[in-house]
Amino acid sequence: MDRVTVRLAVLLSGRGSNFQSIHDAISRGQLNAEIVCVISNRPGVPGIVRARELGLPAYEIDHKSYPSRLDHEGEVLRVLSEAKPDYVVLAGYMRLLSAGFIHAWRNRILNIHPSLLPSFPGVDAQKQALDYGVKVSGCTVHFVDEQLDAGPILVQRMVEVRNDDTAESLSGRILDEEHQAYVEALIKLSHGGFRIEGRRVVWS
Ligand code: GRF
Repeated sequence: MDRVTVRLAVLLSGRGSNFQSIHDAISRGQLNAEIVCVISNRPGVPGIVRARELGLPAYEIDHKSYPSRLDHEGEVLRVLSEAKPDYVVLAGYMRLLSAGFIHAWRNRILNIHPSLLPSFPGVDAQKQALDYGVKVSGCTVHFVDEQLDAGPILVQRMVEVRNDDTAESLSGRILDEEHQAYVEALIKLSHGGFRIEGRRVVWS
């Protein structure tokens, strides 16, 4: 069976290292996908600068230039409807999506979170894990639903917490795993065939 090239839209707000690792996986032929647009809600951040350097369709859609969340989202949705991605990949996108957005793209929006969900949702997940005293943490790639950091899980990778870890050192090791986890999830999606049973993503 021919493998289908998966069309990806990447939404980011900052550094863009997950975006870069996805792009690298495509470039080396590991992931059969095409990045059809990169959208940042923050102008000038490294991720969107890099997207432009790479010659990808890059859009700076500054949320501060819109009177409301829904107006901003409307513009993001307009760009998405033109780019026609199969999946919307949140890669450090620091905006909550409205229920309407999530409904329109049900089970087609992915996010990566730097903890083993359902532990430590929300901001500063690595520091939360360290403060709690867990011995393992990691990262989670999941579909986005209406709850924060809570949709069905595609891939998780584990990272051991060391005695001498700081939030920075732990974040760095988790980030290395994030780069692999996102690519792994997208490769699985590119092979097609999954269903969602309750909260479980079942690959076929
Ligand atoms: C990552 O830690 C990701 O888990 C979180 O935001 C960060 C984005 O990093 N959602 P980058 O912009 O991909 O480097």
